[in-house]
Amino acid sequence: MNKQDKIKQLIDLRAEAKLGGGAKKIDSQHKKGKMTARERIEILLDEGSFEEYDMFVTHRCTNFGLEKKKILGDGVVTGSGTIDGRVVYVYSQDFTVFGGSLSESFAKKICKVMDMAMKVGAPIIGINDSGGARIQEGVTSLAGYADIFQRNIMASGVVPQISAIFGPCAGGAVYSPALTDFILMTENSSYMFVTGPKVVKTVTGEEISTEDLGGANIHASKSGVSHFLLEDEEEGLLLIRKLLSYLPQNNLEEPPVIECIDPIDRLEDALNEIIPENPNQPYDVRDVIYPLVDNNEFLEIHRNYAKNIIVGFTKFDGMPVGIVANQPNFLAGVLDIDASRKAARFVRFCDAFNIPILTLVDVPGFLPGSSQEYGGIIIHGAKLMFAYGEATVPKVTITLRKSYGGAHDVMSSKQLRGDVNYAWPTAEIAVMGAQGAVEVLYGRELAEIEDAEQRAKFIEEKEAEYRDKFANPYQAASLGYIDDVIEPRNSRFRIIRAFEMLQTKKDVNPPKKHSNIPL
Ligand code: HXC
Repeated sequence: MNKQDKIKQLIDLRAEAKLGGGAKKIDSQHKKGKMTARERIEILLDEGSFEEYDMFVTHRCTNFGLEKKKILGDGVVTGSGTIDGRVVYVYSQDFTVFGGSLSESFAKKICKVMDMAMKVGAPIIGINDSGGARIQEGVTSLAGYADIFQRNIMASGVVPQISAIFGPCAGGAVYSPALTDFILMTENSSYMFVTGPKVVKTVTGEEISTEDLGGANIHASKSGVSHFLLEDEEEGLLLIRKLLSYLPQNNLEEPPVIECIDPIDRLEDALNEIIPENPNQPYDVRDVIYPLVDNNEFLEIHRNYAKNIIVGFTKFDGMPVGIVANQPNFLAGVLDIDASRKAARFVRFCDAFNIPILTLVDVPGFLPGSSQEYGGIIIHGAKLMFAYGEATVPKVTITLRKSYGGAHDVMSSKQLRGDVNYAWPTAEIAVMGAQGAVEVLYGRELAEIEDAEQRAKFIEEKEAEYRDKFANPYQAASLGYIDDVIEPRNSRFRIIRAFEMLQTKKDVNPPKKHSNIPL
């Protein structure tokens, strides 16, 4: 072969590899409304930035005649590229090749980019679309999965890991995404479950569809496995780009700061009016968040799951900040098992990656009842407390309205190392709400009043007395638990100034192997 022939051979091999499982399979992928592995990478990365590795890798399996069927790349496209000019590592499973199933070689390709990401200190993005372990390979594919899991675990808290699920993801394969920081799923084309509907029917007799068992809607709303629910793949890929704009490359870097054109001293008069006169009337805490943040931009995470708490990323004066906010519009903003887990995981992510946290408090307490107690609300609530208490990133807290009982302590209170704790004049910081307090304090007196009208009057008077004393921020402020009571319309400016002041904050935890967070 002369030089020209060798170059032609290279060009031909590249073209062959790029075709994956071939034109027919690509066609069938498109017919399902799905993109190919390479099309996805093209949308994800900055134009022309993709550097592919291991394009010529093939499997080494000789079972079931597979030795006669080798496809260049072996079903996963791997490499590096940039997003907004910053390096990321990516692997994209190619369903057109053996249904994207994982072989020993396939796993090695993924492990290689994961190892590179760790060396370089760059995020890892995995695009999943696979039939699971390659059945013909037997146990080597199981070992391949475990090699990936181990790397997911080591990379956790070191580099951001994001998993897109754009097709099947079943059996043990679900555990790699589960070990990563964020999962996103597309409606009607992706699913995740440990065991599929057929096995479920055989083992338990339950009849359930794929979508109802592990579709994107279920995982975004019921299980909380998925952080984002997308209409289509393109939306998902663009969302990954957006998500990364809030994150540092690794745990040793600060998150990326951009120039901010939104005035930092913008006054928001509407915030002075937002808290309803009636303490039991709900309002949407998003109406507080959006006016506060740069350009009204807020990337909500877990939007459909545990709606009584809101978490997400935003920027203040161009600095990325994570927001945790009780949502009075849903279950009165109460803390329950799901809300505690959702917020705890978010707080820990922010802390691992040096992202300051703003907490907006309007919480009536923990949700009472046997289902919560049997489900272990004690342990789950403790997760959120633990996450806040352990976090060393700058923490700014604003109490908007209710902050009662244990939930008051949990929500980034001063004693859980809240750095700057403000309250609006509408704040009610107390052991419990007026209604509950009067029932406990005056139970005996109430039992003795037979006349209903008299009873109601007595309750009203005592509740008013309690409210006057405790339904305000001033007892907490007089003790220094609240650093200042601020006018709501000034909040944007006060938040930005607090975070700027905290930029050089140093806080440490005692040396230990690792903490024992109540799991
Ligand atoms: C080898 C596989 C495969 C697999 C699919 N294919 N899954 N080959 N190993 N696991 C091949 C098919 O034979 C077919 O090849 C091609 O990929 C496309 O698959 P289809 O079935 O035609 O596609 P579709 O109808 O869209 O169905 C997709 C599917 C189905 C639902 C994923 O293929 C399926 O159920 N696959 C098996 C899933 C499974 O049980 N995996 C093992 C799970 S256990 P041809 O040549 O015909 O085009 C597991 C353990 C992991 O993963 C443990 C980790 C610890």
